Amino acid sequence: MNRSCRGRTLVGVTGGIAAYKSAELVRLLRRRDHEVQVVMTESATRFVSPLTFQALSGRTVRTSLWDEAGEAAMGHIELARWADRILVAPASADFLAKLNTGLADDLLATLCLVAECPLWVAPAMNRSMWRHPATQANVKSLQLRGVKILGPAEGEQACGETGPGRMLAPEEILSSLEAELQAGPLQGTRVMVTAGPTREAIDPVRYISNRSSGKMGYAVAQAAREAGAVVTLVTGPTVLTPPQVTKLVRVESAGEMYEAVMKWVEGQDIFIATAAVADYAPVEKEKNKIKKKPETIQLELTRTPDILASVAALENKPFTVGFAAETRSLAQYAREKLVRKNLDMIAANIVGEKQGFEVEDNALDVFWPGGETHLSLSSKLTLARRLIGLVAERYEARNSTENTR
Ligand code: CTP
Repeated sequence: MNRSCRGRTLVGVTGGIAAYKSAELVRLLRRRDHEVQVVMTESATRFVSPLTFQALSGRTVRTSLWDEAGEAAMGHIELARWADRILVAPASADFLAKLNTGLADDLLATLCLVAECPLWVAPAMNRSMWRHPATQANVKSLQLRGVKILGPAEGEQACGETGPGRMLAPEEILSSLEAELQAGPLQGTRVMVTAGPTREAIDPVRYISNRSSGKMGYAVAQAAREAGAVVTLVTGPTVLTPPQVTKLVRVESAGEMYEAVMKWVEGQDIFIATAAVADYAPVEKEKNKIKKKPETIQLELTRTPDILASVAALENKPFTVGFAAETRSLAQYAREKLVRKNLDMIAANIVGEKQGFEVEDNALDVFWPGGETHLSLSSKLTLARRLIGLVAERYEARNSTENTR
């Protein structure tokens, strides 16, 4: 994604006279470099033709869960994962009720239920419908769940009445969306973060893992998001609540993490591997629980794929940042890893000595080709914010060198 691109916006259009305004919204989004996929409900198609949206978005409009051609091109789950954000405009009273109760009886409602990305809705309805306690309760509950409600505006309505219920003007919707996207130094970039430990199954009840809590990775994902990035977090099992990110992919094993990263890495600008990926996994996972044996048992292990090195080896590799946990010779090992894995940056810390795993505070030594710095002991979130500041600086520097070549 280049720095001017605003990412992938899925625009949901539900039934209402305001649907015609969404055509302008899609046009504006495209002009501002959003990739747009429009999904219409059946009743929306009675107000505006899907062809209008197709022409404006440059993509075939999706209208049904049962549309074979569409599902074959991109299934509804994949479509939900594709989106960096979903914007439903106009959102009818009926749709808000569906969203609140988790009904999934059409494509758009199903996508909203599957999606883990931010969801924005711009309600549009008659003023009495808007003021009805049922609608107000739905809106409050959606807000509590993190859904962003845009509007509605007050004024003259299509039905001739006057009051709250008009959909916000497309320009207002766009500027609210963009205000949110224009946060910090990583505005307009896509960042993928791996976090947590992995679990390599031995049998149905046992696994090999490590002491990573996922805290550092989650802090890095949060800091990247605060800096304005569109964040994809691929996480191994943790007990933590993940930060609000655009895409959250949960995995168990190193193999699954590799698959997930490779599936979503295309188009990412920055890749930060904080995960403590198990280096070895059992050659075979036993189908049944292994029973006790008299003496010793042998477990045959094999190397897992090196996710970081695989990303760094891609032809169009993102700016790639690795982590290293060392118990000694930190600078030497970290610098070696930087070169060996073809990284743009490596953040290293000493583990043991009350630092590293399962603790609140951490310190990092950060190395990149031609430079290094020390980030002193502080909370993982503070540290992550400083690291992200540094990543943004180096990423910018790398881009400007490439551009002057
Ligand atoms: N990593 C990865 N995939 C693996 C193993 C590690 O992506 N299968 C990433 C980690 O997320 C981290 C970095 O690679 O960013 C750590 O590199 P690694 O060489 O595994 O470090 P150590 O385990 O510390 O290595 P060593 O055994 O060489 O000390």
